[in-house]
Amino acid sequence: MRVAIATETDADETSVAASPDAVRKLAGLGASVAIQAGAGLKAGVPDAEFAKAGADIVADAPAALKGADIVLAVRRPAAARLEGVAPGALVLGIMDPYGHESELADLAKAQVQAFAMELMPRITRAQSMDVLSSQANLAGYRAMIDGAAEYGRALPMMMTAAGTVPAARVFVMGVGVAGLQAIATARRLGAIVTATDVRPATKEQVESLGAKFVAVEDDEFKQAETSGGYAKEMSPEYRAKQAALVAAHIARQDIVITTALIPGRPAPKLIDAAMIESMRPGSVIVDLAVERGGNVEGSVAGKVVQKAGVTLVGNSSALRLASSASSLYAKNLLTFVETLIDKDSKKVTVNYDDELVKATLLTRDGAVVHPQFQPKSA
Ligand code: NAI
Repeated sequence: MRVAIATETDADETSVAASPDAVRKLAGLGASVAIQAGAGLKAGVPDAEFAKAGADIVADAPAALKGADIVLAVRRPAAARLEGVAPGALVLGIMDPYGHESELADLAKAQVQAFAMELMPRITRAQSMDVLSSQANLAGYRAMIDGAAEYGRALPMMMTAAGTVPAARVFVMGVGVAGLQAIATARRLGAIVTATDVRPATKEQVESLGAKFVAVEDDEFKQAETSGGYAKEMSPEYRAKQAALVAAHIARQDIVITTALIPGRPAPKLIDAAMIESMRPGSVIVDLAVERGGNVEGSVAGKVVQKAGVTLVGNSSALRLASSASSLYAKNLLTFVETLIDKDSKKVTVNYDDELVKATLLTRDGAVVHPQFQPKSA
């Protein structure tokens, strides 16, 4: 059984889909692990560390992938790159399947079994495989650090002989995994923190972190959480009420972190140009939803831009914590891979009835098999 890790093809991607610890454990499961030379460099893992853990370091991607039974990736690899893998090879990564039907069809044609790690069900058994949580937690932390770095004032209240610096006001919009970590980080930095969400369960979580909850708490709000724990898309009426509340609140904030997402939908627009203009010059907005369409009017993916004197930060925060992100992600992958290997025969053995497999498997036997991503004309 051969496991392969090639260097990520996206130049912006700094993470790697393996850690020395994961390599050691894979070897313990009977796998030989091939890693492309330099694959871990941007994440601070030199080849020597992978080699010490038992990996074969090979010159290039084709050499790493040749004959692989399992391919571990951060982002979805192009089908063309997978040409040399074993037929039916498992390819695990963050597949970003929504809106990428033709790329999924190509993976199916390449006869690989592609698993989208971000579709892992959020159940107790799969907690240690939950890439959305492991990465969102880091992204929330980093968003607050970015916000503080762009802000031209101190965050905690400081009483000095030269005068008093007031505490900064931080507002977090969207209190999932990333938002909770942003709140906790803002509190550690000494800011006065408020937060909002459409899911009622978040109120207590916000308060338990010492922040104040601000939201339109009407009947629709009481029904806003799906059975899966996610937010629903809110009605135009709710959105109007929410916008009025936010407009009044945001004018008094110094740093705003937005993280609001709805699964399978574009990110909800929460901050418009007028709200930005109402903020004091020098204020900062960090839009963590920027790659999914953005919560903030005018934020740009991968860029820091100015609008009406307000700094809009559109960085992909987790990407810049590559070392922590990689070690957690590698652990997420490893725990899932352990369920896909038969311990006795030391061979890949997928249980297609397992709910984790059903939820994440996109392609099999030349076809797209996931019910959510069936070709439209089929
Ligand atoms: P997410 O990344 O999908 O969304 C971020 C936040 O944005 C959510 O809290 C959502 O309610 C909020 N949001 C959506 N539309 C909004 C709007 N119009 N205005 C304000 N906020 C809006 O969420 P994430 O971080 O993936 O968490 C979703 C849920 O899953 C949470 O309940 C979390 O506690 C739960 N969870 C459960 C796990 C498990 O049981 N294993 C693991 C991780 C998370």
